[in-house]
Parts: sequence; structure tokens; C-alpha cells
Amino acid sequence: MIVLRELLLLSLSAFLPLAACSPAHLLVPSHDLSQTVKLQDTWQPLVQVSKVAKPRPLVIWHGLGDSYNSPGILEFIVRVKNIHPGIFVHSIYLADTLDDDRRATFYGNVNEQVEQVAAQLANITELADGFDAMGFSQGGQFLRAYIERHNVPPIHNLITFGSQHMGISDIPGCRPFDVVCQLARRAAIREVYSEWAQKQLIQAQYFRDPARLDRYLASNNFLASINNERPAERNTSYAAHLAVLNKLVLVLFLQDETVVPKESSWFGAYAAPNASRAEAEGQAGRQDVGATEKTVVPMRLQPLYVEDWIGLRTLDERGAVVLETCDGEHMVLADECWQPLVRRFVGGETAALEDAGADPDSEGGEHLGLVVQA
Ligand SMILES: *[C@@H]1O[C@H](CO)[C@@H](O)[C@H](O)[C@H]1NC(C)=O
Ligand SMILES: *[C@@H]1O[C@H](CO)[C@@H](O)[C@H](O)[C@H]1NC(C)=O
Ligand SMILES: *[C@@H]1O[C@H](CO)[C@@H](O)[C@H](O)[C@H]1NC(C)=O
Repeated sequence: MIVLRELLLLSLSAFLPLAACSPAHLLVPSHDLSQTVKLQDTWQPLVQVSKVAKPRPLVIWHGLGDSYNSPGILEFIVRVKNIHPGIFVHSIYLADTLDDDRRATFYGNVNEQVEQVAAQLANITELADGFDAMGFSQGGQFLRAYIERHNVPPIHNLITFGSQHMGISDIPGCRPFDVVCQLARRAAIREVYSEWAQKQLIQAQYFRDPARLDRYLASNNFLASINNERPAERNTSYAAHLAVLNKLVLVLFLQDETVVPKESSWFGAYAAPNASRAEAEGQAGRQDVGATEKTVVPMRLQPLYVEDWIGLRTLDERGAVVLETCDGEHMVLADECWQPLVRRFVGGETAALEDAGADPDSEGGEHLGLVVQA
């Protein structure tokens, strides 16, 4: 939903003279939908805990509309520490105050944010020997950018929840006869590749519309780079960096209606529309796009994967890509969703093994909810 709202906001600004419009004058939506962490309140602290002396540290990058010290994030950290006592957890921030940090999830230049975060992480002595990382929603692809461009200190396991690795491709459709919504939606789609949007609006920097791939490749400021999609600019060190990950864990929310298409969390994307059909849609002013049947091309059929532009195929052939699902809407973290992942991929292998015997909920080495794509 937030993507819709945010792009509506963006589209409203599209009616203004863009150059004169500084993000400081734009609103930050105050509702708490979006990519914020939603935890169950039935959670019970464990009595039996891992006996690992020094768990590997964890770094978290929160999502759109959330902040590094929001109640949801702080509660999540408490729960992780309950599973891995003594673990050092760092929550990435782009500004000191909750409001400014939240604003930075909407407005700014992602490339600059990744640089800022790289400096922040390099400066924390507890992380010097490496760490596991967890990216919530857009934080997932931003952490991947950190790995590809820096990875000093290195990430051991990267777990991304509902992230947009192949971008977002559309804005969920408007209700029939909602003319304002349809106007705004069309304006948003038209303006998303403007230079202004690409330098100032975070979500525009991972908007990837397969119907306008040329436009995306020419103008996108962030995603096209970290996905190494421009043949002339492919950076081999991105692939080399990603390929040294121990595990890349990609979590898809089964009822995700925020990320379009939700398979983006597994590196899936809509197929480019058939040219003749696209033309017909163009004439119809794109109003019926939401109604058109679209095919999702899964990760292993993406050129990015097949030609191994970012090291994803290398990782996968080593058995290091783990595709997981969680039941629920975007960023709804049920205990069955996050706990097994925190046991298996956070803190260190030993922790997971020792835990396996101790807790009845644990499935040992089994992959809870593991679904492997053909
Ligand atoms: C690094 O840490 C020092 C001391 O904690 C702090 O003053 C400085 O601002 C930090 N630099 C960055 C880039 O975070
Ligand atoms: C490739 O990426 C690395 C790491 O970000 C950077 O240092 C290097 O300059 C880039 N190479 C090219 C050719 O852009
Ligand atoms: C493209 O669409 C046209 C008209 O709907 C159809 O005849 C044609 O088979 C389609 N081509 C592909 C490659 O799907």
C-alpha cells in the first residue's frame, strides 16, 4: 500500500515545477503501514538459550517508513538477543532522530546512503571481523549494494525480508471511477524516471518497469547499477563480492500486496510485454495495466542470473541461495517466519546446532517453509 501512497505523493509533486521542489517541503506519510516491522505480541521468551560464547554480530537495515529505533525494531532486537544472548546488534541509521531517519527512507539518493552506511559500519569495532545482516524490505537491496560496492567489514549471511531485488514494476491499480487516483498513477509512472525523482525519491530509484526497460536503463540511478544491467558499465567486482557470501536468504511474503510483483523478493520480475500488446495498452492510456495478465520470469530464467552479472548464479550453484516464504502480508513477521531464520542464519552455525536439540519449535536442520523454484 505504501508504494501506492508514496507514488501518489510523488505524482502530486509531478504537477509542481520539479526543480523548485525540494524534498524538505514534501510530506512524510504519518501512517504506519508501509515496510515497518509487524511482530506478533504472543511471543514468549525462551528459557533454553544458545550456549555460544560469542555470537557473530548482526546488522539490521530497516524499511520504508520505519526508523532505526522504532518500537518494532527495538522489540525485534530484544527477541533476537533472547535467542542469541550476548549478540551485538547494530541498527543502521541515516539520521539521529526517529523522524529524520524515517524521512531518509523516502527522500534522498540511495547511492549516497549506501556510502554513508559503509562508513558507519567500518567505524564500529564490534563488526570488524564480519557480521550477519538482515534487510527489511528496501533495506535488503540496500545491504546487497553494500556488499557489492564495499563489504568491508564483510557480511557472512544476508537475509532479506520482502525486498525488491528486481525493483517494483507497477503501482497497484486504482478503483474504477477513481479519476484522481488514475491521474496520479499515470503521472507517477510518467515522472518516475525524471532526473529529479532519481536523485531525490528513494522508491523511484528501484522502480523498474519492464514495459519501459530502455527508459529504466538510461535513467535509473541505483537498481540498474547494483543489478549490473547496463552492459557497458558492468562491474565485475560486484559479482566477486556477492559470490563470497556464505548464504543469501531471500524471504518472500506469500500475501504481499505492497511489492509488485512480490516475486521481486526472489529476483523475479514481470516479463517485458509483447510489443503489439504494449502498443494497444499505450493507446488505452495504460489504464487497464492492472487488469492485464502478466507473466513473472523467475530468478533462474532472468538474464541477470543466467549470465551471472552479479554472482547470483555462482552462489546458487554452490547451494548458497535459500528461497524462503513467510505466510502473510508485507513485513508481517510471525514467529514461525523469523525465529527459524534467526536460529539458522544469525549468530553462527554452532548456535543453530545447539538450539536445535533444545527447543521443541525448532526443526533442526529442516527448512521451514522452504520452497525451491524450478
Ligand atoms: C566514527 O566513530 C566516531 C567515534 O565514535 C564518531 O565520532 C564518528 O562520527 C564516526 N564516523 C562515522 C563515519 O560514522
Ligand atoms: C567497481 O566497483 C568498485 C567497488 O564499488 C569500485 O571501487 C570500482 O571503481 C568500480 N569499477 C568501475 C569500473 O566502475
Ligand atoms: C504478441 O501478441 C500478439 C497479439 O496479441 C500475438 O498474436 C503474438 O503471438 C504475441 N507474441 C508473443 C511472442 O507472445
